Amino acid sequence: MNVRFAPDGVPVRAAQPNDGPEPMQGTTQGQIVCAQWLRRGMLRQVSGLYGRAGGEVMKQVLLDGYGVPEEVARCAEVPDVGPPAADEVVFDVLLFPINPADVWFCRGSYRLKPPLPATPGAECVGRVIATGSEVSHVRAGDLVINLQRENWTQRRRVKGDDVVPLPAGLELRQAAMLRINPPTALLMLTDLVAVQPGDWVIQNVANSAVGRLVIALAHARGLKTVNVVRRESLFDELKTLGADVCVVDGPHLAETVRGATGDAPIRLGLDAVSGAATARLAACVADGGTVCNYGAMSGEDPMVGRGELIYRGLVLTGFMLGRFMARRSLAQIRDIYADLARQVADGTLFAPVEKIYAIEDIKPALVRAQQGERTGKILVAPNGVV
Ligand SMILES: NC(=O)c1ccc[n+]([C@@H]2O[C@H](COP(=O)([O-])OP(=O)(O)OC[C@H]3O[C@@H](n4cnc5c(N)ncnc54)[C@H](OP(=O)(O)O)[C@@H]3O)[C@@H](O)[C@H]2O)c1
Repeated sequence: MNVRFAPDGVPVRAAQPNDGPEPMQGTTQGQIVCAQWLRRGMLRQVSGLYGRAGGEVMKQVLLDGYGVPEEVARCAEVPDVGPPAADEVVFDVLLFPINPADVWFCRGSYRLKPPLPATPGAECVGRVIATGSEVSHVRAGDLVINLQRENWTQRRRVKGDDVVPLPAGLELRQAAMLRINPPTALLMLTDLVAVQPGDWVIQNVANSAVGRLVIALAHARGLKTVNVVRRESLFDELKTLGADVCVVDGPHLAETVRGATGDAPIRLGLDAVSGAATARLAACVADGGTVCNYGAMSGEDPMVGRGELIYRGLVLTGFMLGRFMARRSLAQIRDIYADLARQVADGTLFAPVEKIYAIEDIKPALVRAQQGERTGKILVAPNGVV
C-alpha cells in the first residue's frame, strides 16, 4: 500500500488495494511518507469524517508465544483500530525501532509479559489521522510520539494525553527513537548524582544509541566522559561526538582508565552490560561514587564485589525511564520531549540507523537487531517508505 513520490511531492504511482510493501533499502532522509495517511487520512481531514469501511484490516506484529524473537513474532492482519472516541487520537505508525528491551519483551524476559497474542513496541513516531472532539493539543497531520506500548503495527488508537506532538519537520528516523533513549541519557545525567561541569562520568556500550546520546548531552554540560566499547575502531567516531576518553573493555579496564584520565576521580558509572562488566566499571569509579545499572546486554545480572560497597562506599543503583518519568507531571514530560526534539532538530542529538525494514520482514529485522557490531538501529516502516 505504498505510494512513491517524486522529489516535488507528486505521487508517481497511485496506491493499489493489493499492493505489498516496497523495498526499504536506499531511502534517504526526508523521503519517508505515510501512504495510509495520504491515501485515507488526508481525505478524512478534508471531509472531517473518519468513515471507516466495515471489515477493514491492518498489519500488526503478533507474538504467538514468548521465545526466540524471530520465531515467535509474525506479521498478521488484524481488524483496523476504528475511529477515535471523544478523548482519543488515531495515528498511523510511520517508523518504529527495535530496541534491546523489545527483544527482551519477545523473549518473555522483560518486566511486562502480557497475555498472548501480544504486540511488542515501546516506541514509534506516528502521524495523526483523526482526533476525538475533546482532544485539542494535536490535530490531523501532526507528528507524534506515543507514550503507550504495542506500537509494532500500522495504526494506533490511544488516549489523547498519551501522544506528544513533535515539530512538523523533525527528521522521522530520529523522531522514531525520541521517546526512550534520549530521555534515558538525559535523566541518568541529571537525576542520579549532582554532577558539575568538569566532573567525570564513565559508561560502557558507549557506541549504543544511549551511549552516543550520553556523550553529546554530557559534553554540552561540560562533563567529561570515559567511553568503554568493544573495539578500538569506534574511537574516532565517538571523539567526534565529544567523547573525552575511549577505551576497550577488558580485565585491566581500571588501570587503563586511570592512565587515560590522569587518575581523575570518576563520580558516576553507567552500566548497560551487567555481569562481570559491572564490576570492571565499578573499579573505575572513585570512592563514594555511584554505579548505575540500566541494562543487561550480557543477559546476566550485575556483579559488584561487596568490598566496593563496604570499604569504598560505592553506591549501586538502577535506572528505569518509566520510574524517573513518573516523578514528573505530564506538562514536565512534554517539556522534556520538546527540548529533546529541539536538540534533535539542531543536530545536537543523533542516533545512527543501519537499515529500515518493511513490517512483513519483521523476522529478518529481529535477527539483525540482535546481532553485534551494527552500524546503527534497525527500524521498521509499517506503512511503507519512499
Ligand atoms: N533502563 C532504561 O530505562 C533503559 C532505557 C533505554 C535503554 N536501556 C538499555 O540501554 C542499553 C543500550 O540500548 P540502545 O537502544 O542504546 O542499544 P543499541 O543502540 O541497540 O546498541 C546495543 C549496544 O550493546 C552492545 N552490546 C551488545 N551485546 C553486548 C554484550 N554481550 N556485551 C557488551 N556489549 C554488548 C553493542 O556493542 P557492539 O556494537 O560492540 O555490538 C551496542 O553498543 C540496553 O541495554 C537497553 O536495554 C535502558
